[in-house]
Amino acid sequence: MPRLFPTPVLLAHLLVNQVLRVGDSAVDATAGNGHDTLYLAQRVGDTGKVYAFDVQRGALLRTAERLRAEGLENRVVLIQAGHERLKEFIPAGIKTAMFNLGYLPGGDHRIITRPGTTIAALKQTLDLLEPGGLATVVVYRGHDGGKEEGEAVSKFIQNLDRKRWDVISTVFPSRSAHAPFLVALQKTGDFQKEGGSL
Ligand SMILES: C[S@@+](CC[C@H](N)C(=O)[O-])C[C@H]1O[C@@H](n2cnc3c(N)ncnc32)[C@H](O)[C@@H]1O
Repeated sequence: MPRLFPTPVLLAHLLVNQVLRVGDSAVDATAGNGHDTLYLAQRVGDTGKVYAFDVQRGALLRTAERLRAEGLENRVVLIQAGHERLKEFIPAGIKTAMFNLGYLPGGDHRIITRPGTTIAALKQTLDLLEPGGLATVVVYRGHDGGKEEGEAVSKFIQNLDRKRWDVISTVFPSRSAHAPFLVALQKTGDFQKEGGSL
């Protein structure tokens, strides 16, 4: 039997699959090794655009290489800047933003996302999302600072206007207390029907 309950990363992709269409704009707020950027670039097609942020040049180089291997580099704008500067680079009207917090696997584990900048970036993201648009945040708690960042994200979503935002936060009681979790936020206003389905 396959394991049924997906990892937070896979769950984020399953949700994004439901909203992101050819021609849309999307943000990868933490490009890292480029897996999510590539995934977003594949979904938005030739007429869409992906904006991918990372503070590390090495991460953007790896992302560029991954995109080039698939011939998709023209769909992506790579931005070496903190995602807390999102609004300086991106016009409003994005359909999806993906955050994958923590450190770069295979990179310097001291360079991590941090609560203050993550929340600043999330606030800007929520302003830029179209109605019906989706933000996903995969939160890691196993490294130094991860627990505090997870708490900051959880607190942030508690204080959102419930009429404007539909929000989930996953709990995996059978997994470790340090296991990653997913927060996803959809801007209300363009729902076709209540409940939704994958
Ligand atoms: C877990 S990795 C992302 C993995 C990536 N999504 C992938 O598919 O490979 C987190 C990344 O966030 C980056 N990062 C840290 N602080 C940042 C910030 N303020 N703005 C943007 N990226 C940041 C790190 O450099 C690291 O590459």
